[in-house]
Amino acid sequence: MTLAGPRPATVPSAVRFADGVLYALDQAALPWSERELALRDAEQVAIAIERLQIRGAPLIGVAAAYGLALALAADPGERALLAAHERLRATRPTAVNLTHALERVRAAALEAAEPRRAAAALAQARAIEAEERAASASIAAHGARLLAGARRLLTHCNTGFLAAPGRGTALAVIAEKADREQLELVLATETRPLLQGARLTVYELSRLGIEHRLIADSAAAGLIASGAVDAAIVGCDRVALNGDVANKVGTYAIALAAHAAKIPLVVAGPTSTIDPRIESGEEITIEERGEDEVRRLRGVELTLPGTPCRNPAFDVTPAALVSALVTERGVAEPPNAATISALLHR
Ligand code: MRU
Repeated sequence: MTLAGPRPATVPSAVRFADGVLYALDQAALPWSERELALRDAEQVAIAIERLQIRGAPLIGVAAAYGLALALAADPGERALLAAHERLRATRPTAVNLTHALERVRAAALEAAEPRRAAAALAQARAIEAEERAASASIAAHGARLLAGARRLLTHCNTGFLAAPGRGTALAVIAEKADREQLELVLATETRPLLQGARLTVYELSRLGIEHRLIADSAAAGLIASGAVDAAIVGCDRVALNGDVANKVGTYAIALAAHAAKIPLVVAGPTSTIDPRIESGEEITIEERGEDEVRRLRGVELTLPGTPCRNPAFDVTPAALVSALVTERGVAEPPNAATISALLHR
């Protein structure tokens, strides 16, 4: 694909909060339509997260934080706070950023007197967004340094400015490498069933002017084995203390292929994606989504109506298959209990 001109210095924000409204680029409509949602209460935010109009682990944490602030602006009472907290937390069970962000906002709100709760919650949501934005820039720098020699990369799902504040996670590393002229080509998987790669990563790579090819998910292993890329880099939705990683379904297959081909599989994400409460990936809840997402594609039937399906949204890649975990605090290489603990205490 031939790409548009120089890389833009700034990228659009996937969410922005102004005048009591959370505005979000509707990611379910991209890339065909660039429309903004105006979300005015916690329920609207919860629905947008469930529908993947807002998605990507760091971004759903930030959006849920603003959602809780909106709930408190409507009713600062403790009962309403806890109800909104629970509603938002239940929207997506795998990405731990959601839980971390909600717990921070709830704690900040409960420390304030009732009339000050909404303001305290909003300040905390803004702080979380700013931290994630700064984390993205550090991840980009650490990752580009780590992968300095890799000129052809494969990535999965969507991890750029649509998925996290700033430039994202794995795609922030890719964008940084492009800025440093270290990049030849990116292979982006389509990422069935909801096509985050085909719809969103291609949109981001095009906007960033980065040379890329879209591939079917089933082409990834063969292309890796044939030497088409020097490394694979993906994001993460939850990392256990032993370095096991939950990420978009299909990551495990890419990790196995990378391991067999002896190329690095690098995982990039902020430390807010590390779950200090779980020792291993076995404890990660994997979201199972509706069967129609597998049966149909944008309203087109792909199989016999009513065919029973399984639709796990994520899978767990064991730490042994991950070469390095790149965070804003540095790199755990290889990720294991000792290197992750060192990162968390840095
Ligand atoms: O179901 P999604 O689209 O929210 O899944 C997102 C992913 O799996 C991403 O790879 C992950 O959140 C990292 S985002 C920077």
